[in-house]
Order: sequence, then C-alpha cells, then structure tokens
Amino acid sequence: MTETSRPAPDSLTIRRPDDWHLHFRDGATMRAVVPHTARQFARAIVMPNLSPPVTTTAMAADYRERIRAAVPAGLDFTPLMTAYLTDDTDPEDLARGFADGVLTAAKLYPAGATTNSASGVTDIRRLDAVLERMAAIGMPLCIHGEVTEAEVDIFDREAVFIDRVLAPLVARLPELKVIFEHITTEQAVDFVDAAAPQVAATITPQHLHINRNAILVGGIRPHMFCLPVAKRERHRLALRRAATSASVKYFLGTDSAPHHRHDKESACGCAGIFNAPFALESYLAVFDAEDALDRFEGFASLNGPRFYGLPVNEERVTLQRVATLVPDEVDGGDAAIVPFHAGETLGWRLVG
Ligand code: NCD
Ligand code: ZN
Ligand code: ZN
Repeated sequence: MTETSRPAPDSLTIRRPDDWHLHFRDGATMRAVVPHTARQFARAIVMPNLSPPVTTTAMAADYRERIRAAVPAGLDFTPLMTAYLTDDTDPEDLARGFADGVLTAAKLYPAGATTNSASGVTDIRRLDAVLERMAAIGMPLCIHGEVTEAEVDIFDREAVFIDRVLAPLVARLPELKVIFEHITTEQAVDFVDAAAPQVAATITPQHLHINRNAILVGGIRPHMFCLPVAKRERHRLALRRAATSASVKYFLGTDSAPHHRHDKESACGCAGIFNAPFALESYLAVFDAEDALDRFEGFASLNGPRFYGLPVNEERVTLQRVATLVPDEVDGGDAAIVPFHAGETLGWRLVG
C-alpha cells in the first residue's frame, strides 16, 4: 500500500447527464430506442439524418412531437432538435427556429460522408450566408468532420478535414460555436485543445473503448463499425486523455446509431453503433480505469450545457459498482439491434 492509494468508491452520484449527439431514427425503431436514452439522460441533441432529412424548422417541430410521444410515462426527457444543412438551407428559417426554441443547433454533413448524408453540403463555401447568420445569433454548428474525396484514405479523412475545412472555417468565423462531433484522432484533440473556447468536441464511448483492431482482427465485426471509423491505439489513448482531462471543451455525445442486425450483418453493412442502453455504464468503465471518476460529472453533465448555454440539470443520478451483463440483442421495433458491448459484463449500473 502506498500513501496515495485510495479505496475505489462503489457508487457515484452526479447531476443527471445529457447526451449531446445521438440518432433516434423514426417510426417503430424510434419508439423502441427512445426509452433507453430517456432512462439515462435528461436531454439529447437529436441528429437530423432521417430519410428524407430534417431540413426545416417545421420538420424539426413535427419530429420533436413524435419523439415526445415515444417517451415512457414518468420519465422526464427533453429532445433538443437540429436542422440538417443543405446547399439550399434558408438562413431565415434557421434563425426563426432557433429564436422559437425549436432548434438548438444545425448539423453539417459533408455530402456522402456518412449514413443518410446524400443531401448534405457539397461545398462549405455555399453556406457562407447561413454560417455568418448562425455566428451572429449564437446558434451552434455541429459538424461531422470528414472529407469525402475518394482519394483520401478513410483513416485519414478526419485529419484532412481539419486542415482543409475546419481550420479555415474557424479562422473565417471565430465567433461561430462549433462542435467537432465524435472525434477519433489525436489530431482532433490537438486542434480542439489549441482552439478558442468557441470550439468543443463530443467523444463517443466506442472510440474510448476500441481501436481499429476491434473491427478487423479475427474476422470482420460489423457491430464495431461506425463513422468516423475507429483508428489506431494511439488515437484511442489521446481520446481517453482528452475525455478525462477536465478540459471543459470535451463532453458526452454517444452517437448512438441504431441499425437493425440484418442491416449491419450484410455485404454492405451500415455504419453506426447502438450504445444507448448502457451508455453511462460504458463511459464510466473508462473513467474508472483511468482513475478519473471525479472528472465524470464534468464530462457527462456540466461541460455540454455550459458550451450550449443551457442550464445544468438539477436532478442527481447514482451509478453503482455492480456487474451488469449487456444482452446479445435488444428490441429494435421492426427487428433486433445488437448493442455495443453485447455479451460483455460492465462494472457499473445506473440505479436511479
Ligand atoms: C451515424 C448514423 O448511422 O446515423 N452513423 C455512424 O456511424 N456514426 C451517422 C453519423 O453520426 O455519422
Ligand atoms: Zn457523424
Ligand atoms: Zn452521429
């Protein structure tokens, strides 16, 4: 025993967390997955990449109603809506939606970068008027940060995006609040660390747990595939350092992205990992292993609202150190979905 060793706490009580990036889909799938998030989180930034995408304030308002109707009675959960930016986005509609409280942010998908991004932005310079307006009114911009040029290696697409798109954007519009979503590289961590306070990032549980070997060693593992794809081990370690660093620029965004089992286990399997059912337990395993339980509340419950300019949640939740078996699959409405950590035992459980 050294003098510095402490007994590991067996429970942790924190302000109720929020999820600053996830996908609910629509219809029966949405109704099956919303309860998982509503049980774990007070609020969530809902991504707009439906088919067709949620491109206007009116569509976001309708989608919000469908989500609210899927929240189980007795759970207090607020969906925070985003608009999907296209080459034709109307800045007036965005500004009105933001002022009315329907829209919390807008989402930039480079066209072709990820699931349902075909209607995304072909050239960010086409958005100059929209982004200038967002900067002026303080509306945050969420970014899927990958270039889509065929000649760029898929493992380099995030780092190249920083140089070609993100750094010039931040230099052009220093007032714009930018969330670099689901970062996966040490280059992204370095960029965010060095940037002004207007630039922040979300980090998913999977990118803290897995590197690219998880997708390819011993056979192709489609349930470990998401975009941006997991990178080398040194990148995973950089993300773990960032998440547990106490920097207010990093916050929880699960990128929970449900796809039915048969759409993942396919010759062209969909990108996306469904982590909503045990998201807090998954993150907490990382903070525990990094001896950073005292940093978890900042990452999960404080940094996000602070960046978005929203109040922190007043309720508390408690997680206990108890073995929790993750099921092999969960109900996904029309078909089963395989959750992240399927068949594994996590060391924590949200108990209320
Ligand atoms: C997301 C999805 O399925 O909607 N997939 C993913 O791999 N992350 C889209 C996204 O967030 O890029
Ligand atoms: Zn994305
Ligand atoms: Zn996403």
